Amino acid sequence: MKSLAVIILAAGKGTRMKSDLVKVLHPLAGTPLLALTLDLARSLRPDRLVVVVGSQKNLVREQFGAGDLLFVDQEEQLGTGHAVLTAGPALKDFQGTVLILCADVPLLSEETIKKFIKSHEEGLNTLSVLTTRLENPSGYGRAFRGEKGQLLRIVEEKDLRAGEETIREINTGIYCLEAQFLFLALLGLSDQNAQKEYYLTDIVATASSQGKKAAAYLTEDPMEVMGINTRLDLAKANQYLRRKIAERHMLEGVTLIDPQTTYIDHQVEIGGDTVLYPNCYLLGKTSLGKNCRIEPGCKITDTQVGNFVTIKASSVISESVIEDRVEVGPFAHLRPQTLLREGSRIGNFVEVKKSVIGKGTKANHLSYLGDATVGEKVNISAGTIFCNYDGHKKHPTIIEDGVFVGSNTELVAPIKIGRNAIIGAGSTITKEVPPDHLAVSRTRQVNYKRRSRRKD
Ligand code: UD1
Ligand code: CA
Repeated sequence: MKSLAVIILAAGKGTRMKSDLVKVLHPLAGTPLLALTLDLARSLRPDRLVVVVGSQKNLVREQFGAGDLLFVDQEEQLGTGHAVLTAGPALKDFQGTVLILCADVPLLSEETIKKFIKSHEEGLNTLSVLTTRLENPSGYGRAFRGEKGQLLRIVEEKDLRAGEETIREINTGIYCLEAQFLFLALLGLSDQNAQKEYYLTDIVATASSQGKKAAAYLTEDPMEVMGINTRLDLAKANQYLRRKIAERHMLEGVTLIDPQTTYIDHQVEIGGDTVLYPNCYLLGKTSLGKNCRIEPGCKITDTQVGNFVTIKASSVISESVIEDRVEVGPFAHLRPQTLLREGSRIGNFVEVKKSVIGKGTKANHLSYLGDATVGEKVNISAGTIFCNYDGHKKHPTIIEDGVFVGSNTELVAPIKIGRNAIIGAGSTITKEVPPDHLAVSRTRQVNYKRRSRRKD
């Protein structure tokens, strides 16, 4: 293979999205469009990687400022041809193949793009365009071929002449070009067209008029090359990508009871024999181990889950770590920085925040555990509240191994409960409890005999 440079076009605002957020930062299956395109580009191990940014360029740069890529600024968005021209100085001394990708064409597979580059290089083409055939080609530039199938020109929809709209082969916006030809040809572009823009597509006509070899490489699956211009396109692409993700996991040994209502983000990892029930959301950088069961209606975000874990119905979990053989839910809420050690159990209507819950420890019902370090084999009974907030600051609760906390107890932090202590039900504990002690703090019960049945 020749040297390869990839240019990703990502400067457009995306007017048709009608959004305050630049188009390339809109997510598909939890990952911004540009990140998907960057993944694809990197899979080709290019010698150079250039991203053309413009609209909200600082926001884009912040998210993707990794060392292997070079950003160039297109101050004014004067069209796709102008965008590539802007990348020229960054590739001044480059010789070889330039692959142009659009950040708004994010579903392209590695397989297709590799075949495309191969056909460009083996065909000794000066220019190749990736095309597809659509039932409804409206909105796309059309490919005009000559008698021998060679590519003559691409015409934008708004510049078509009467009758030409019926051409169904369209430009996907993906190109391979010889660097030397590309940057010379761009200098000759004009903006005399319906949109008053410098169209990259016009260099196809330049190539054919100079007798250079220009080819169209037709790809079969039109979904892979769909461009995202509106929120309708975004929803359609989301459905496609989610189906692909679900299929990949099923082929790897994960059971999805109902793939259509299981939402798995792009980056999620799932171990074999794990079962996902309907209506689950696995989001962000979440990973699940083997043999887990995630019951209906769970939402799990940026969380690492071990093996043999059961998350019962309707639990909401974010930024947490769950070790092997833990049981959570139903209706549990794990908030950021929760660590559930092996074999622990967090039951219904229990909320945990920024806490470590030790091995084999149980909090089965109706409790709030926040800013706590809880040891091993602790029992936290129903209705326990860790009072961590005094209105100004958060304070820690420390519970050592083997403690038993009776029902309806408040532990007012900062507080420490020593090893094997017992807290009597209904207590409000404000002072440290030493190891092996029983602490009770509640008014003694008094039973008064009633004088008459009618009047007390
Ligand atoms: C473009 C093609 C069209 C093709 C379609 C495929 C041109 C003139 N038209 O049209 O033939 O069928 O893609 O999806 O190339 N961009 C910049 N700077 C600019 C303008 C655009 O970086 O000044 C970037 C955008 O961020 C986007 C890409 O280029 O990623 C395509 O731009 P867009 O305006 O969406 O072009 P289309 O009208 O879709
Ligand atoms: Ca587009």
